[in-house]
Amino acid sequence: MANKGFTIWFTGLSGSGKTTLAKKIERELLTRGLGVEMLDGDVVRTNLSKGLGFSKEDRDTNIRRIGFVANLLARNGAVCICAAISPYKDIRDEVRHLHQDFVEIYTECSLDALTERDTKGLYKKALAGEITGFTGVDDPYEAPEDAEITVNTETESIDQSLDTIMAHLESKGLVPPAPQQDMSADEETAILAKLKTLNFV
Ligand code: ADX
Repeated sequence: MANKGFTIWFTGLSGSGKTTLAKKIERELLTRGLGVEMLDGDVVRTNLSKGLGFSKEDRDTNIRRIGFVANLLARNGAVCICAAISPYKDIRDEVRHLHQDFVEIYTECSLDALTERDTKGLYKKALAGEITGFTGVDDPYEAPEDAEITVNTETESIDQSLDTIMAHLESKGLVPPAPQQDMSADEETAILAKLKTLNFV
């Protein structure tokens, strides 16, 4: 039977690891035979939400658009992975309620660590006042209190966070378990040894 679609909704500050984890999950789900689409804030803002800024109104419009598309995909059997800051709880909840199955993942990370990483150089600019209205610096971020999953990307490795997320999705029956390895490591070693004795390798 075909798998049921659902939406994975990442929320967290800029640079907190949403896109990185979303891409890892996308790969993992593809290897498990699921249809996956990704809606990443930075990408969506170059097309679907092109021209929108970072006022509350524009951010809300951006999130509503992403949520609307995610629901269209999810109800047709895809797993839709969304990765936008989505700083406001009320709009995240609004989008959640469009959906039948919705998994919110909070990528928690302190401002200190984000400023230290500063992969896009935006925190430095925001702290220097060169960018105003930057989430977490001089614009609000409302952390979820009831997300299905919280991963701390400051203290956990990417693989640890990935394991937590996959374990949750499996436990809820949303994704099938990882495919069984055809043979165990011991079996592989034994076969390799046999092939060596026969001069095949
Ligand atoms: S959201 O608030 O509407 O969810 P979204 O995830 O689409 O934001 O876009 C956030 C990205 O836009 C950040 O990762 C960063 O690269 C860029 N950006 C530019 N200006 C801002 C700003 N004022 N606040 C937050 N992110 C900004």
